[in-house]
Amino acid sequence: MCGIFGIVADRESDIGDILVEAGKRLAYRGYDSVGSAVVGADGAIDLRKDVGKIDAVSEALGMRRMRGLRGIAQLRWATFGAPSRANAQPHLDCDGDLVGAHNGNVVNHVMLRRRFVEAGHTVRGDNDGESCVHAVEAHLDAGADMVEAIRRAYADLDGDYAFVITGRGENVLYAIKKGSGLVAGIGDGFTCVSSDLPSLLPLTRDIVRLQDGEIVVLRPDGVEVRRVDTGAVVAREVEAYAGAMDAAEKGGYAHFMLKEIHEQPKVAAELLHLLRDSADVHRVVDIMRSADRLYFVGCGTSYHACLLGAYYWNQIAGRLAIPMLPGQFIEQASASLDPRAAVLFVSQSGETKDVLSALNVARDKAVRLLGMCNVIGSTLMHVTEAYLPLACGYEISVPATKTFMNQALLFHYLARAVAGKDVAALDAVPDLLERAIAETEAPAEAVARRLAGWDSLYYLGYGLTEAIALEGALKLKEITYAHCEGMFSSEFKHGPLSAVFDGFPVVFFTAPGDEAMMTNHVHEVTCRGGHAIAVAEDHAEFRQNVGAYLAVPRSDRMLFPLLATVPAQLVAYHMSLARGLDPDFPRNLSKTLTVD
Ligand code: M6R
Repeated sequence: MCGIFGIVADRESDIGDILVEAGKRLAYRGYDSVGSAVVGADGAIDLRKDVGKIDAVSEALGMRRMRGLRGIAQLRWATFGAPSRANAQPHLDCDGDLVGAHNGNVVNHVMLRRRFVEAGHTVRGDNDGESCVHAVEAHLDAGADMVEAIRRAYADLDGDYAFVITGRGENVLYAIKKGSGLVAGIGDGFTCVSSDLPSLLPLTRDIVRLQDGEIVVLRPDGVEVRRVDTGAVVAREVEAYAGAMDAAEKGGYAHFMLKEIHEQPKVAAELLHLLRDSADVHRVVDIMRSADRLYFVGCGTSYHACLLGAYYWNQIAGRLAIPMLPGQFIEQASASLDPRAAVLFVSQSGETKDVLSALNVARDKAVRLLGMCNVIGSTLMHVTEAYLPLACGYEISVPATKTFMNQALLFHYLARAVAGKDVAALDAVPDLLERAIAETEAPAEAVARRLAGWDSLYYLGYGLTEAIALEGALKLKEITYAHCEGMFSSEFKHGPLSAVFDGFPVVFFTAPGDEAMMTNHVHEVTCRGGHAIAVAEDHAEFRQNVGAYLAVPRSDRMLFPLLATVPAQLVAYHMSLARGLDPDFPRNLSKTLTVD
């Protein structure tokens, strides 16, 4: 969701090429329009932007050929203002002396925009990024210097965002961070700044992490970090980033989603390896064990991992954990929180605004803050007391796959660790996942072809498999645009059963040992003409009751959800293809949701 990048160099070059490449590395976040602004040695600002995909827009507007000393690139995912050229970022101020772009949300934008219009500003669009530029301009007009104008603008602009701006004058770029990811990099003869770390890594490994409430002043020979509130310079170490950078390439697969599904055995093995030597696991486990109340909080797929985590926590560790969406946590739990509680925030990106809002509420109550997330350097990682990485590398495809797998595996690991059970039992997971992929890929494709014409279906699970039914249904909705509802199977007869008619598809995620009970739920559907599909271990008798069967390898019952996730992902992927859609970049969605 929106990505910003800025660079300032000591000499003029084809900086447009660098901006487009950086934009491409941010594209996985999701966007609908693209823009680049370059400032030349003569101070002229060249701004090119439009609605569309980065390859098409950059080609049509010749963005790669833009030359200059410094530049800003932005990929926008529409919230304030429809996707249009005027609303695409970066934005100019009234006279075209400043150019800037933001990532995130300025929540008082509508009021600010009205105020700027009434004050006679030339406001060209409806986008909140434009308010950021006019806010700085207004303070410059009132006599402030650039740093002071940005500090005052920061006070005007409510919300969570990161913002980068430059002007015609000095060869300097400025950026501020307020609740949205921002990291700076230092190279040979240039410095740069971006919404996320991986987009900087091809340019430099010397990075400067920024915190909320900081301004970074970027010059070709270095960066200076200042506090927004006091203006004081902050001493900040330059970190030599040693982590791996996975190439954002499909590696022979037709889509990132398929590649990422196939990477699951490998990333599961890497996570288990990492956990074995991790002191952080012990810290997290100790905090979870000593908490008198424990919450698991996440959105979307990460929330489904929380649901499964709570099941593991109950059944393996014999403890209660309460899985909640961030909004539920704020509305239903926050007033009763006290410092004896602990909250584990779960997020692939570590930047999801809903999650960070809940985290701020929990922080105000002084509860123990824990994190589980994939993106190193993310806000979540910085603000939690103890943090566990998912170790999945870059997940490009908008539908989360391998990160869900490692969230589920990590929850299982933590539950076993708290219960004092042998975690080595999980070492079988990578091979089992390998087999699940090999054994379900073709049958899942056949099921997907059969489902492709249906615009509504149900995914049912019971207890251990409820979270997988919900996650499978989310995956299907997200990339096929069909309606698919995931639910607890015993609830189906309490209403949704009325939807069943001849051929209506219902998928039953059936854990080993639940076949007899699930047979009842299947018959309630099939006796009314419904088409039942089972995801289960091979079971000759159960198989007789359903029209299609996706068999996963035999394993420990508690591992079944991990294995059953694989065919759920593959059915969604192949149904998306059968409908002629792009599973990697579904319409209207974004990988990282940094807005309310
Ligand atoms: O980065 P997060 O895990 O916090 O993201 C939460 C959801 O936006 C995300 O899981 C979303 O539901 C996925 N695209 C689903 O595949």
